[in-house]
Amino acid sequence: MKPGTLIVFEGLDGCGKSTQLGRAGTYLRERGIDPVVTREPTDGPWGRKIREMARSGDGVAPESELEWFFEDRRDHMREVVRPALRAGRLVLSDRSYISTVAYQGARGLDPGKILQESEAEFVRPDLVLLFEISAREGLARVAARGGESEPVFENLEFLERVSAVFKVLKVDGLERIDASRSEDEIAADVILVLKRFLGSTGSESS
Ligand code: TYD
Repeated sequence: MKPGTLIVFEGLDGCGKSTQLGRAGTYLRERGIDPVVTREPTDGPWGRKIREMARSGDGVAPESELEWFFEDRRDHMREVVRPALRAGRLVLSDRSYISTVAYQGARGLDPGKILQESEAEFVRPDLVLLFEISAREGLARVAARGGESEPVFENLEFLERVSAVFKVLKVDGLERIDASRSEDEIAADVILVLKRFLGSTGSESS
């Protein structure tokens, strides 16, 4: 078995994946597994540049946007994900190249090509939890939680296109979770999926 495990949390803005990632981390710690928790975009130079662009409201050309996410992910793989996996750790990542397939695919770039290039270059996740919610509901949740808005990504028309890519996504280890329910109901599902997954990989004895 390869050392380490990569589990990624994916979905539209406002789908609740970050909250669920936090709860999954707590659950794993209670089971004696200490996960490495990380996210994309990262807090590194490319990630900061991406957030600044997203908040400014001034987008860049789709090809540049794609390149920025790839550069950020290169740093992330080299500095965080690969070393953690080599050390045998379980990594929980808030977003991954699956987001690039959906979001930059929604910009008009070819999602199939993005997926193919990503799978060739980056670590493939062992498990992909995809939190499904409508673009409208996701945006309502983003508005309700307040904080800084990212108008370049958080707009209805764009997120509907992102959602359409997520709907037809086919990758190994994909688990779709209905994220229109309550936080506790979703968390219960996440734990079921994790239990099944960890049981099947022999990552825990019980
Ligand atoms: P998000 O997870 O919302 O981070 P935060 O709220 O901490 O800023 O990600 C920021 C935005 O970036 C989000 O709208 C999705 C988008 N995104 C892409 O378009 N492509 C990608 O490859 C990734 C990782 C994110």
